[in-house]
Amino acid sequence: MSTITTTPFVTTSGGRETHLYRITNSSGWYVEVTDLGAAITSIVVRDRKSYWRDVALSYRTALGFEKGGEYFGATVGRCAGRIAKGHFTLNDKEYQLATNNGENHLHGGVFSFSRKVWNTTIKKDKVMFTISSPDGDESYPGRVDVIVTYSFNDDNELTISWDAASDSDTICNLTNHVYFNLNGEGDTSILDNELKIDASKYIEVDEGLIPLGIKKVSHTPFDFRHFKLIGEDIFKEDVQLERGSGYDHSFIIRNNPCVIASSPRTGITLTCSTDYPIVHLYTGNFVDVTCENGKNGHTYTSHAGFCLETQMYNDAINHPEYPSVILHKGEKYHHKTTYKFSVQR
Ligand code: BGC
Repeated sequence: MSTITTTPFVTTSGGRETHLYRITNSSGWYVEVTDLGAAITSIVVRDRKSYWRDVALSYRTALGFEKGGEYFGATVGRCAGRIAKGHFTLNDKEYQLATNNGENHLHGGVFSFSRKVWNTTIKKDKVMFTISSPDGDESYPGRVDVIVTYSFNDDNELTISWDAASDSDTICNLTNHVYFNLNGEGDTSILDNELKIDASKYIEVDEGLIPLGIKKVSHTPFDFRHFKLIGEDIFKEDVQLERGSGYDHSFIIRNNPCVIASSPRTGITLTCSTDYPIVHLYTGNFVDVTCENGKNGHTYTSHAGFCLETQMYNDAINHPEYPSVILHKGEKYHHKTTYKFSVQR
């Protein structure tokens, strides 16, 4: 069984003290999470030569978590991804959210879940973060109570579950924004990490990265049905890759495990399974973190990490053809994802 230890972490700009919670399994592999943004800050595993490698990017300052456009490791909400022009209608009422990404709303707004200090409960081998987001928070309707639970077991499975409920109808789409580099964080590029995604369809986007429609991956750079280096097609001439400055696209997944990623150099392998319909692959195209804010004094630039954000469809509230993201009063929101780590010899 895993054990949990607590240490002090950074102090926020508002003077709140935060903490790191280390979940260590019986092999000594560990995951660290913090109450600041209910974020993952480290995933430390052994590579094929038995060297310890931390495969998650993070910030070392409160400023990074509070302002960083990368959302390293953070819990993202209320609505992960983009909402076109920050606008939607629910029960005949119109809502205008912050437009914090060009003309669109991104990752829950300005002082979103990723930027807040959460309450913590340690339950046996699990760390649970809770937050109560009041009615009108970031202009979203209804009070939403959220629980994010992290565990890391002896099978090296990092499991995240998100639970939520609201006192009136609202919208909700929670995810985690951890960036992996299976060479080890601090290594400059994930372009030599291999990826396989069980998806025959992805979602094309417009210039503002708002969904346009569902397309087949066959004969496109988005075909990851067989193992392929992330860098193999990323610089190919393709209007979708241009719009994202790389991969910044949602894949409609078929079966679990939905994604397998691996570093040929370290042998570290990541297998992702989820009960949600989308994996959003983001290849860290806009990452820009100086050594003052990067973990271990590391500078992170474009393609220093990749994200596999499990979620509902982007902008689903404005696309009746996509599964609904409406969380009705009295309903229970539940979403679970497991990232399992192993080593190929
Ligand atoms: C988005 C990107 C964005 C990144 C960091 C991803 O989920 O799709 O466009 O740059 O998050 O904010």
